Amino acid sequence: MGTPLFPSEPAPALPQDVLGPGTAFLAGFALPQEEALLSSLAAVAKQSPFRHMITPGGFRMSVAMTNCGPLGWITDRTGYRYTALDPETNQPWPEMPQPFRVLAVSAARQAGFPNFIPDACLINRYEPGARMSLHQDKDEHDFAQPIVSVSLGLPATFLFGGLARADKTVRVPLVHGDVVVWGSSARLRYHGIAPLREGEHPRLGRFRYNLTFRKAG
Ligand code: SIN
Ligand code: FE2
Repeated sequence: MGTPLFPSEPAPALPQDVLGPGTAFLAGFALPQEEALLSSLAAVAKQSPFRHMITPGGFRMSVAMTNCGPLGWITDRTGYRYTALDPETNQPWPEMPQPFRVLAVSAARQAGFPNFIPDACLINRYEPGARMSLHQDKDEHDFAQPIVSVSLGLPATFLFGGLARADKTVRVPLVHGDVVVWGSSARLRYHGIAPLREGEHPRLGRFRYNLTFRKAG
């Protein structure tokens, strides 16, 4: 008799260091705070709605964005930068909700960055077909501080490359509740998101949300 097969069994968990030195893949790390995160997300989006920003080259991003915290990342025809005011509302970005801050700080600590104090949270909203091309996060002042990335809603494929754009990328599936941290020697690694596949998430419908926490100022 052969070994029984269990086709519905989930794939084995990826190791925390699957992405290499300076990184941590924390599967399901955000799940215990799911309710607080979802209600905080809705409150932020009510105050500073999602919008499709324009790249310096004049392209409309397929990902819709908003921010919370003292600084928010924006792009327009004049370039990429952090601002204290939401250019759509002319008001400060919404305060960073406590559940967001606590999650980011504890994920960073777990990844070996005990001094992380985020002052910016960029929130990306993906619909099926939306993607994020390979880029480095380099508009922040202090590269000693890591990036903490929280995935909610539809699954996605995270592309994680090297320090040069042409370096080979690994493909890491990210699902609702996963957290990825990258810092120190990995801080400037190229990364992106493959085009989102069609789907329906029980809590978030046809969307994937990604929170990226940074120390920008
Ligand atoms: C980003 O690099 O800003 C987004 C990454 C993601 O959506 O997981
Ligand atoms: Fe990024």
